[in-house]
Order: sequence, then structure tokens, then C-alpha cells
Amino acid sequence: MDRTVVLITGCSSGIGLHLALRLASDPSQSFKVYATMRDLKAQGPLWEAAQARRCPSGSLEILQLDVRDSDSVAAARARVTEGRVDVLVCNAGRGLVGPLEAHVTGAMSSVLDVNVAGTVRTLQAFLPDMKQRRSGRVLVTGSMGGLMGLPFNAVYCASKFALEGLCESLAVLLPSFGVHVSLIECGPVHTAFQEKLEGGLGGALDSADTKTRDHFFCYQRHCERVFREAAQDPEEVTEVFLKALRAPQPALRYFSTEHFLPLVRLRFDDPSGCSYVAAMRRAVFED
Ligand SMILES: NC(=O)c1ccc[n+]([C@@H]2O[C@H](COP(=O)([O-])OP(=O)(O)OC[C@H]3O[C@@H](n4cnc5c(N)ncnc54)[C@H](OP(=O)(O)O)[C@@H]3O)[C@@H](O)[C@H]2O)c1
Repeated sequence: MDRTVVLITGCSSGIGLHLALRLASDPSQSFKVYATMRDLKAQGPLWEAAQARRCPSGSLEILQLDVRDSDSVAAARARVTEGRVDVLVCNAGRGLVGPLEAHVTGAMSSVLDVNVAGTVRTLQAFLPDMKQRRSGRVLVTGSMGGLMGLPFNAVYCASKFALEGLCESLAVLLPSFGVHVSLIECGPVHTAFQEKLEGGLGGALDSADTKTRDHFFCYQRHCERVFREAAQDPEEVTEVFLKALRAPQPALRYFSTEHFLPLVRLRFDDPSGCSYVAAMRRAVFED
């Protein structure tokens, strides 16, 4: 039987790396995984983990793919020897945390380029074939930051909100072509994400006024609390990707945790936004 061909972006670390491993080592041996990363110099940890997990030979291949570069995306697609991708996972992403005025030059455009335009470029490369074959699954790594605004994450949230609109729009059209799009909405996950923040944590914080800096320190304490209480391991999150991948009729959204659902509901229950803004202000700046 043909294996399910999966291509994942952003596999040098974190969720992408763990998902690639999880699928390549699945006991069913039914997946062929193309784990992609922008810099092949970072492939060591994935190969070591694959050896430790005894991934069968031929279950995993690593390809260069930088989502900022259409040629790199096209070159990766051309190297898929099966000539098709059954499951595309758009996972590559970067964070940007700090006061808006403290973002270093280029940080905003870089994050939007990777998170939004990068996802669009990847979809543009793989969707036409899925549509033509009348079959395909797309999984996109979403975030609670795409479902609610978070202080000091304005640009990151803007990028993840954009993915909500992108995927929801596609989800209306693509079932006519036998293609399904799902967002895997993640809360905080223990990965290198915080270490790889564009411009570093806070950015050029000295350039912000004292009150903004005080609010930022408050936000940092809030984040530490939320991470302690609710952060998940990537292994737990990858199981949610598998659930979406195996669903006969995939939903648009899967949540890796229910922890934040009350806040998400608040946004929809009071479309004016007043209840959400008040609740989030209390949680971050007053608790
Ligand atoms: N960790 C969390 O708390 C959390 C919560 C919600 C959602 N998410 C989302 O989860 C996804 C994966 O993040 P993670 O937590 O696993 O963090 P991570 O370990 O930092 O993984 C991010 C991956 O994206 C890759 N990437 C960055 N720019 C790229 C580019 N131009 N082309 C291709 N790949 C690129 C990174 O590669 P390099 O190593 O080369 O930079 C890395 O492999 C992201 O979309 C993130 O927004 C994370």
C-alpha cells in the first residue's frame, strides 16, 4: 500500500521536529515524512532523535525549505520523489515580543514574511496539485495568539490572526476539491520558540517609556505563571496533529488544550470586545 506522504515546514526544532519524528516512527510504518528546514546545518538533532527512535530507513528525509523564498519551496517540492504530498503541514513560524515601538528594524516585516507570506507561498506551491488530485490535507500550526490579542504580541497576533482568515477562507472552498484545511491551535508549548524570538525578548526595550517597561515586566511575570500552569510538551501537541490528520471529516480547528477556551468564548459572546479586553487586562496587569 502507498504510504501517506507528509511534508512539514520548520523541523529544525520544536513542534515540527517532534511531529516529523512521531510520524516517521509510527508503528504502522504508513508515513513517508519530508521534514524541511531553512538551514540544513540544523539537521543534526532530528537525525539523532530519529536514530534513537529507530525510525525505519526511508521513513524520513530532510530537505531545505525556507518559506521566505518561493524558489526554495519549489525546489523542495521537486525533490518529493513520490510526486505528490498527501499532507502538508505549515508549521514554520517566528515570534515577536515587546512594545511595538521597541521592535528592531525589520523585525515586523520578517515575522509577517515567515508567518503569513511564508504560509501562503507554501500553500501556493502544494495546493494546485492537491486540488487536481481531488485529495489532500493541510494542517497549519495556529496559536491562541491567533484567536485573541495578547499585550506585547501585537505583530505576532496580527500574523496568527491572518492565518485564521487565510485558513477559514480556504476551508470554505477546498472541500469541493476533496482538500481539507485544519488549524492546530496551540497554547504555550515547551520549545525553543522563546529563544528564537525575532530581535530577542522585548526588542530594544530601552527605547520604550518607563510605564510601558513596567507593564512589560508585569506581562513577563504573567507569562511565567501561564507557562508553569499550562505549557505542554511538544509530544502532547503532536498527538492533536495526528487526530486531525486521521479524522474522516476534519474540522477547521483543533485545540491542543482547553485551558484558554473560556477567554476565546468571551470574545465571541461579547462581540464588542469589552469583556475580553477587561478580562485580559485583569489577568495580565492586575492579578
Ligand atoms: N511554542 C509555543 O508556545 C507556540 C504556541 C503557539 C503556536 N506556536 C507555533 O508553533 C510553530 C512552531 O514553533 P515551535 O514552538 O516549535 O518553535 P521553534 O522550535 O522555534 O520552531 C519554529 C520552526 O520554524 C522555523 N522557521 C523559522 N523561520 C523559517 C523560515 N523562514 N523558513 C522555514 N522555517 C523557518 C524554525 O527554524 P530555524 O531554527 O531555522 O529558525 C523552526 O524550525 C510556530 O508557527 C509557532 O508560531 C508555538
